[in-house]
Amino acid sequence: MPARLFFSSGDLIADRRYDFARDLQLKGDLPAAADLLLQATELAPDFVTAWFSLGDIREQLGEREAAIAAYRTALACDPGDRHGASLRLIRLGVEPVADMPQGYVQTLFDQYAPRFESALVDDLGYRGPELLFRAVLSVRAAARKPAFFKRAIDLGCGTGLAATAFAKEVDHFIGIDLSPRMIEKARLTGYYAELEVSDMVQGLRCKPDASADLILAADAVIYLADLMTLLTEAQRVLAAGGLFAFTTETHAGEGVTLGAGLRYAHSAEYVRASVAAAGLTLSLLEDRSARTEDNIPVPGLVAVANKA
Ligand SMILES: C[S@@+](CC[C@H](N)C(=O)[O-])C[C@H]1O[C@@H](n2cnc3c(N)ncnc32)[C@H](O)[C@@H]1O
Repeated sequence: MPARLFFSSGDLIADRRYDFARDLQLKGDLPAAADLLLQATELAPDFVTAWFSLGDIREQLGEREAAIAAYRTALACDPGDRHGASLRLIRLGVEPVADMPQGYVQTLFDQYAPRFESALVDDLGYRGPELLFRAVLSVRAAARKPAFFKRAIDLGCGTGLAATAFAKEVDHFIGIDLSPRMIEKARLTGYYAELEVSDMVQGLRCKPDASADLILAADAVIYLADLMTLLTEAQRVLAAGGLFAFTTETHAGEGVTLGAGLRYAHSAEYVRASVAAAGLTLSLLEDRSARTEDNIPVPGLVAVANKA
């Protein structure tokens, strides 16, 4: 994952205290690190990185209430929430599951972009685009239709791995992603006719009715809690007979949860119900893992929804 985020407090001494605190944290002396971070926040009360790190350390020390207070202060210091304090609060059970702050996703993937493919493909055996490709081919084969699509939209396109997988089957690819640095990488593939820096739901909202034959979202809806809004827009933008193919992470319980990796997991039942409520028909829903973490395949789903 990317290096730890740091936003200077603007106060040299407070920044130094933070650096010392990090050293202590890395050496395992969490109480001393917490002390230094408190000193840093006394010098610079809006020092968001120090508040966020303090929350993290308090959590590791089992000091739940103090962790919650530190994360809440981090959020107040940076309402755009680039550190993702609100996600920590969801994980701690004090805030309801909600969509990810855009500032967090953008910062995360802008940082990640230079190493994204080696980290995901080489280290985690990432296979989302390949799963989508096979799923789309099998749905088309079952329907006795060619797997060729004139107009496709790749949501959360990242560096362009999905367009690379589908390049021979698509005439005109539009890529949409929140992260400008990921979009820069996608541009280098040469597979996209158009690329947009945008939230995927907002991006779809700007597209005319029935203007796409295929919509893809490889490993991207794991950053969205609510799939209903996305699926409803996808239904509007797809032409009759069009497909929306996506992967997601899943869990055995009900509805949507935020996992320890700070990615959403959608239950199979939630996916089924959301697809139906959006007026699409599920052509395929299979248990398939898109990545392996700590030698364990992360439970996942591949779904293909069809517009009649
Ligand atoms: C794990 S990467 C997958 C990238 C690509 N689809 C692939 O298969 O390699 C997730 C991508 O989704 C993008 N993303 C996450 N949430 C988004 C949102 N709400 N709107 C647009 N892009 C989003 C991220 O910026 C990131 O590039």
